Amino acid sequence: MPNILVIHGPNLNMLGIREPGIYGSETLEVINEQIHRHATSKGLSLQIIQSNHEGEIVEAIQKAYNTVDVIILNAGAYTHTSLAIRDAISAVKIPVIEVHLSNIYSREEFRHKSMISPVAVGQISGFGSYSYILGIEAAAELIRRKT
Ligand code: DQA
Repeated sequence: MPNILVIHGPNLNMLGIREPGIYGSETLEVINEQIHRHATSKGLSLQIIQSNHEGEIVEAIQKAYNTVDVIILNAGAYTHTSLAIRDAISAVKIPVIEVHLSNIYSREEFRHKSMISPVAVGQISGFGSYSYILGIEAAAELIRRKT
């Protein structure tokens, strides 16, 4: 079974409470259940982590080397700042699908720049929690193409 790793970055543990007008009112737990169900229906094995720490996200990407087929990454605010996360992605050479709940291009200018996009296969942005479901679809397609 192909292995998918979903990484939620900083403040995504606050979903449900955090700016619901932008991020929706579902909690991360509810979103994770939806992601899990969808991945299972696609025959994918799924691991999900959330971290508020840049170094932990770097370590999770490093640990994925040779064990994970596709990473679905919402790096939160680190999307816009983290050279370390970007370098980790380049190091492991695992295909990354970049995901955002909000449309980062319709928001403040400082969110328009992603450090992750140049090393990601592609980006899904603006569909709320459905962005993650689209991320699973994209992951399934990448795996189909590989096999
Ligand atoms: C986000 C967008 C980022 O700009 C923000 O810092 C987040 C969440 C999103 O999912 O829309 O934490 O990645």
